[in-house]
Amino acid sequence: MCGIIGIVGLSPAAPRVIESLRRLEYRGYDSAGVAAHTSAGLERRRAKGRIRDLEAVLSVEPLQGHVGLGHTRWATHGAPNVANAHPQKAGRVMLVHNGIIENFAELKAELIAAGRSFESETDTEVVAHLIDAGLERGLEPLAAFKAALNRLSGAYALGALIEGEPELILGARRGSPLVVGYGEGEMFIGSDALAVGPFTNRVAYLDEGDYVAIDRTTARIFNADGARVERAVRTVAASAALVEKGNYRHFMEKEIHDQPEACRHTLSSYLDPINGHAAPPEGFDFTKVERLQLLACGTAYYAALIAKYLFEDLAGLPTDAEVASEFRYRNPAVTPGTLAVAVSQSGETADTLAALRWCKAKGLTTAAIVNAPESTMSREVDHVWPTHAGPEVCVLSTKAFTAQLTALICLAVAAARQRGRIDAAEETRLVQTLLEAPRLIAQAIADTEDALRPLAFDISKARDVLYLGRGAMFGLALEGALKLKEGSYIHAEGYAAGEMKHGPIALIDESTPVIIVAPSDNAFDKTRSNMSEVIARNGAVVLITDEAGLAHAPSQARSVVAPTCDPLIAPLVFAVPLQLLAYQVGVAKGADVDQPRNLAKSVTVE
Ligand code: M6R
Repeated sequence: MCGIIGIVGLSPAAPRVIESLRRLEYRGYDSAGVAAHTSAGLERRRAKGRIRDLEAVLSVEPLQGHVGLGHTRWATHGAPNVANAHPQKAGRVMLVHNGIIENFAELKAELIAAGRSFESETDTEVVAHLIDAGLERGLEPLAAFKAALNRLSGAYALGALIEGEPELILGARRGSPLVVGYGEGEMFIGSDALAVGPFTNRVAYLDEGDYVAIDRTTARIFNADGARVERAVRTVAASAALVEKGNYRHFMEKEIHDQPEACRHTLSSYLDPINGHAAPPEGFDFTKVERLQLLACGTAYYAALIAKYLFEDLAGLPTDAEVASEFRYRNPAVTPGTLAVAVSQSGETADTLAALRWCKAKGLTTAAIVNAPESTMSREVDHVWPTHAGPEVCVLSTKAFTAQLTALICLAVAAARQRGRIDAAEETRLVQTLLEAPRLIAQAIADTEDALRPLAFDISKARDVLYLGRGAMFGLALEGALKLKEGSYIHAEGYAAGEMKHGPIALIDESTPVIIVAPSDNAFDKTRSNMSEVIARNGAVVLITDEAGLAHAPSQARSVVAPTCDPLIAPLVFAVPLQLLAYQVGVAKGADVDQPRNLAKSVTVE
């Protein structure tokens, strides 16, 4: 979602802010802005749209100064327009904000009653006014900032510049992350390590409730009680180089091609190939777990749904997978032996985090399968189970999804062995099978990428598309449909193949492509019957299968053949053609596949 960069630097701030905001584009945004201390005082430039629109504004009205603040805004309160873009201004204060201030309406009424007037519809402007009101009362900047923070409910990461304080940036976090970057004679704040990545890889992550004052050489960090604290400075790997597109046209294409590597890296944390064992890093005892509660949103939820089938089938472990935003607000009946596992690429998704915290408050053991090692979830759970997909820039999740699946499959094998559902020989066989996955994912890319192009061209003309699958392929059908919606804006639905006759079959006609994901597993014959039902109604079937499945494919189906593989890793291999198809359809439609409209990479509001 929104992104923040603050620079107390040695060279002009505005171009550096732009460079950083470009790195944050992947988070999703609809306006952007920059403010700086200039010789004429505190000034700002803002634009609706893309960073290039902000650059166009800056080319007409350049912004001088070495101390600056930048922001990409994903609209929550008020339309995406210049007036609502950040930095927001009130008196001596310029402020950028990620998150939502829940009590902004009460605060705004109070400030209006006190004679203040507002220029925007944002909740952020309220905070700027609160800080400015503190300055007007004679408080020092840091005290005015803290006094404002004390009035806020909701989630925020904030960055503030104060007129008359040309070497100071104030920052704070509660609910949304904020990092402090340590440079050579320069200091930074950023919404994540990537934001400050072009300038430094030495960062400190603020804790919940922390606030900070940076100048050119120091960061003074305070906890929620106002006590001065130290936060560890780490060297992070999120270097600028890691988020380049290379020779690919889009990040989505690159990240699909990154998957063999992401899978291999993730496997290395969970498998002992020499002894044929599977276990999470630092081990875990699944024999004490009575029930598994998987919590996630979006694509990560579909990974969890597929894992539910695996944990129950392989390990006999009762497992629920639930959309975090539903779980959190429905008062679920959890039992003490439940292990709560969040699945999240970013580790910052507000709904998943809220569900996790709810479980923690109920006394459950918590774990997170997470791609961002320094994220809030990583820091709050009892057990961190990493995925090693590397930074995922495209808003559409691809390599993070298969990395999540990789970790979940490994965990299911570990649980199965520990719980006595499989013997050592079977564990070794499954570990060998998993070790084959990176090669088979690469082969799936090579085998299907070109074959899908004519199909993608035809599907790009469709208005609706149906995806069907059974078992683990049901989760993939849901994921395939989500990818197509996000990447091409074509309406798509995923369904359990057996459910089609209970309703969605009404949609079938010659203009509705039906994509059936069916490797030749024990559900193939049943899915084949569903395929016949579609063909009997003149539906345009696309069958994604393997060689053995192809031998039984009806002549009316257009088939795409993925590599033959063990059912354990079929979700990893069969995810690939679905991702490629969504990508190619999106490109054929001229859609912005890396940053689709209205979407954000990391959804940090509930
Ligand atoms: O960072 P997370 O894995 O927690 O994100 C969850 C969803 O927001 C995310 O998967 C979303 O659905 C993607 N846009 C899917 O492509």
